[in-house]
Amino acid sequence: VSVHSETPEFLVNGRSDDCVDVRDRGFMLGDGLFETIAVRNGTPRFWQAHMDRLVDGAMRLGLPAPVPGTLADEAERVVAGRDGTLRITWTRGPGPRGYAVRGEPTPSRVLAFYPGRPAPRPRPLRLRWCTTRLAIQPLLAGLKHLNRLEQVLARAEWTDDAIDEGIVCAHDGRVVECVAANLFLVRDGTVMTPDLSECGVAGVVRREVLVVARGLGHETRIVRIEATDVESADEVFVTNATLGVAAVGQVGARTLDAPGPVTARLARAIEERE
Ligand SMILES: Cc1ncc(COP(=O)(O)O)c(C=O)c1O
Repeated sequence: VSVHSETPEFLVNGRSDDCVDVRDRGFMLGDGLFETIAVRNGTPRFWQAHMDRLVDGAMRLGLPAPVPGTLADEAERVVAGRDGTLRITWTRGPGPRGYAVRGEPTPSRVLAFYPGRPAPRPRPLRLRWCTTRLAIQPLLAGLKHLNRLEQVLARAEWTDDAIDEGIVCAHDGRVVECVAANLFLVRDGTVMTPDLSECGVAGVVRREVLVVARGLGHETRIVRIEATDVESADEVFVTNATLGVAAVGQVGARTLDAPGPVTARLARAIEERE
């Protein structure tokens, strides 16, 4: 939920440009990764955690790893001391037709900066249940890879602006996450979030919330969560890099008093972190 009033700016492999090679495997096959990073006063938030996920994702996909120092220098250039949102895309680069990786890849990197201050969030979020189901794929689970068709289909389920997010389940019915955010429940002071070892994106803010919650003395659990658990939770909140911690005031037909005390405390702690 942010206002991007000014024109975005792009760096493609370090040069001011907004075009990529049509042979790029990121474009042709979705063969790559990305990070979306909140930027405040020129400083990317949770930079190290974003770099960790990107480097880990590159290792898991057999992509050459990005050099965080190069990305940091280019981020500083494109951000130029402003507020906004930075997206880093890292692909296997151009290649011949077909899936096989031939020769040494020359990865492509795109830094896209969308300047603008985040708009204050007016109210707790309203969530719907999506009918689009996520595939179970442990090889890709947790990664922020470029194949986001499940999210595109799930987001296309609603056009009502009163709905902020949708909860998505896996094929076996378990709750996984939201379309573009991770999901948390609070019950009797315990902070719970779905296990993502088989599908879903392991969010940077999710990881921070788990650390912060433990630091504040809350028990945390990464577990299998069913729809009935969401229906009976004391508090529900969602997280992502641009929202931070966002309280949920409605899930389908159910309304909740939001923000609940645990959500409010975690939202403040995440806001103040770094
Ligand atoms: C599908 C999905 N899950 C979870 C997240 C949250 O990840 P992060 O906290 O790194 O922004 C996102 C972020 O956009 C996402 O697209």
